[in-house]
Amino acid sequence: MKSKTHLTEPQGKLENWLDTERAVLEQTGLRRHLRTVMSAPTGTINLDGRDVVLLGSNNYLGLSTHPKVIAAAVEATRTFGTGASGSRLISGNSELYTAIETNLAEVKGTEATLVFSSGYAANTSVIPVLAAEGDLILSDVLNHASIIDGCRLSRATKEVYQHCDVEHLKTLLSESHAFRRRLIVTDGVFSMDGDIAPLPDICDLAAEHNAMVLVDDAHGFGVLGKDGGGTAAHFGLEGANIIQMGTLSKAVGALGGYIAGSHALIELLVNRARGFIFTTGLPPATLAAANAALDLIRSTPNLRERLFSHAKCLKTALIDLGYTLLPSETQILPVVLGSPQRTTRVAESLLAEGVFAPAIRPPAVPSETSRLRLTVMATHTEAEIQQAIAGFAAILS
Ligand SMILES: Cc1ncc(COP(=O)(O)O)c(C=O)c1O
Repeated sequence: MKSKTHLTEPQGKLENWLDTERAVLEQTGLRRHLRTVMSAPTGTINLDGRDVVLLGSNNYLGLSTHPKVIAAAVEATRTFGTGASGSRLISGNSELYTAIETNLAEVKGTEATLVFSSGYAANTSVIPVLAAEGDLILSDVLNHASIIDGCRLSRATKEVYQHCDVEHLKTLLSESHAFRRRLIVTDGVFSMDGDIAPLPDICDLAAEHNAMVLVDDAHGFGVLGKDGGGTAAHFGLEGANIIQMGTLSKAVGALGGYIAGSHALIELLVNRARGFIFTTGLPPATLAAANAALDLIRSTPNLRERLFSHAKCLKTALIDLGYTLLPSETQILPVVLGSPQRTTRVAESLLAEGVFAPAIRPPAVPSETSRLRLTVMATHTEAEIQQAIAGFAAILS
């Protein structure tokens, strides 16, 4: 039987198969290389020994190097040591979890929250709790891989709706009343496109058809809405019946994922979510750093203002230079170039000019939509943004 997961069939010896796989990746422009970052993720980083302007960080607000955040991490390590030493249900549930989950629930305006060891773990854990065989998941075609994997693990039937297409979603909902439960799942801010899901329309449809909504706010949390509450807050939907997932690894600058919702939902997750139950708790330093960053997100709105001002400046300048950007409304600015080979070449040319703009290729994005995914940070200096623009100008000539 042909395995879909292999680019080519295994042939003979293991080494031959590995060589063939590598050759296929090379020929299709999809071979990836690890680069080494030799500094903190600030506006300029040392990459493989060279200083370059960073346009590829999810540390959107620059909080991972904020002195208060670092001090909180150091203090937590002194008090609690370096590791959690157990899963949360056994011995790893330190009071630092209580602190951050309370803080998160306040920001999200929900009854409760539950922190997981990553955003990936949150999605792959919560979706199989919400939907199983006999249920239907309706998923936006551009949803993140962790949502796709969560759907696979759930064994529910999955229907994919066109990107942000509320009419398509409506049709699928109308045709699916035979399923036991239905779950609509969407990125809040799409990770590779930077656009925002039409959450109010999705929530209206869900209410009409008695379906659940799960929004993945990895890229909206900390950035959009009052207090950085995320996509739901951006639309004034704080009180709506949405299950909200988010990460502590992007605007919060640390690591971890969370689910925000009702007490009843959180209790069910504590009892059923496998990626919560069967893994060690997060390091104390991570929890304390995330909590300190959350305080800063709530108290420092000008970080968000600066982020959006940089995004506007870079976007306008690149359009003036003739680049085509997707119509993003956020800090994520995609420059779509088409083939993986072309995208890699442009990224390499930019790097030679001192600008690190990562090439994003399939399977992270659909085929022939390979792109540079540019992200700005609130802590970029104006000079760094200008240096980045100069790099884009230089490769045109
Ligand atoms: C939309 C989205 N969801 C989930 C995740 C996973 O989050 P984490 O990196 O915290 O595991 C990511 C990470 O890139 C993401 O972009």
